[in-house]
Amino acid sequence: MTRFPFEPPFILAPMEGITSAAVRGVLASYGPLGMVCTEFVRVAGEKISEAHFRRQVTKLPGVALSVQIMGNEPRLMAEASAVVAAAGADVVDVNLGCPTACAARKNVGAALLKQPELLGRILLAMRGAVPGLFSAKLRAGFDTWEDALAHGRLVEACGADFLTVHPRRGIDRYRGIADWRIISLLRRELGLPVVGNGDVWYAQDALRMIEETGCAAVMLGRPALRNPWIFRQINELLAGREPFSPSGVDLVVHLRRLREAMDTGRLDGRPLPVGPLKEQFLFLIRAVPDALTIRRRVLSLETCDDFLDGVEEALSSLAAEQLDLDARGRYGLERCGSALSAA
Ligand SMILES: Cc1cc2nc3c(=O)[nH]c(=O)nc-3n(C[C@H](O)[C@H](O)[C@H](O)COP(=O)(O)O)c2cc1C
Repeated sequence: MTRFPFEPPFILAPMEGITSAAVRGVLASYGPLGMVCTEFVRVAGEKISEAHFRRQVTKLPGVALSVQIMGNEPRLMAEASAVVAAAGADVVDVNLGCPTACAARKNVGAALLKQPELLGRILLAMRGAVPGLFSAKLRAGFDTWEDALAHGRLVEACGADFLTVHPRRGIDRYRGIADWRIISLLRRELGLPVVGNGDVWYAQDALRMIEETGCAAVMLGRPALRNPWIFRQINELLAGREPFSPSGVDLVVHLRRLREAMDTGRLDGRPLPVGPLKEQFLFLIRAVPDALTIRRRVLSLETCDDFLDGVEEALSSLAAEQLDLDARGRYGLERCGSALSAA
């Protein structure tokens, strides 16, 4: 297989605490996109809870679902993989990218890139347990760039169907710029489809990443939270149509839709805490130039109703021209990913 297995080849990234089923559903409704990912599901302890892993498999019509597993014990990771695959996950993915201090301490995520022998056993065990598609999502390395190709080769040799690379080192966390040259390198040297990820802030950057690196698909994380219509804009650029240009009202309606979806997904019947909406707002507000005062004002509001009313008051009068949500990056508030590609 050299092509990415799902169309269109644009993917919503896994994001811990953010890409819940509710959020995936709202973002996919603006689509089109080929695949959405769960946040990592942690395998730890002596045995797995099958029910917990089965619960992660919440599918959307017409969009593939990748369930990501994080851990370091090959047998348990294989068991978890088998459970999510049997429950209908279209892809089982292994997390080789989490850069947090906690993950490093627990020897999971990007830390596994330092241990090729253990990593090989994990990959083979998971591969053996997944009858369908199996993938890995990795950083370029833990504390060095030098082994990026060796990591890719190991993933390929262990039978993954595709890999996603976020070309920063684990120790970089989110600092600096994603080095798209690593995506090009893996794409050139490996036989399996390579998905590129990192700093695709504007719709046009997604097309540029494909052009510059030859990657089989593009995965977007923070940029899709900052601009929920970015997948739609990519599709419009590809079709040669004028891309959608969201206004302040669209941002407000989006937050209200998120609230509704999050409310519907709640099982405990208690009122939705405002925290998750504020988290989404903090991504959206990155597209509003000079928004410090707005941020301060609305973040002090303590209930969902007050918060959403405050956001509406602050944002609904903003015209599309005042926002950095243009497909081509009208204001370029975010750095663009491949500054290094030209070097
Ligand atoms: C809040 C947050 C949570 C994340 N959680 C995960 C995760 O659970 N699994 C994973 O593989 N990557 C995770 N990532 C990394 C993203 O999937 C992605 O690789 C990274 O943000 C770079 O892509 P971007 O520039 O499109 O955001 C997370 C990123 C953020 C910002």
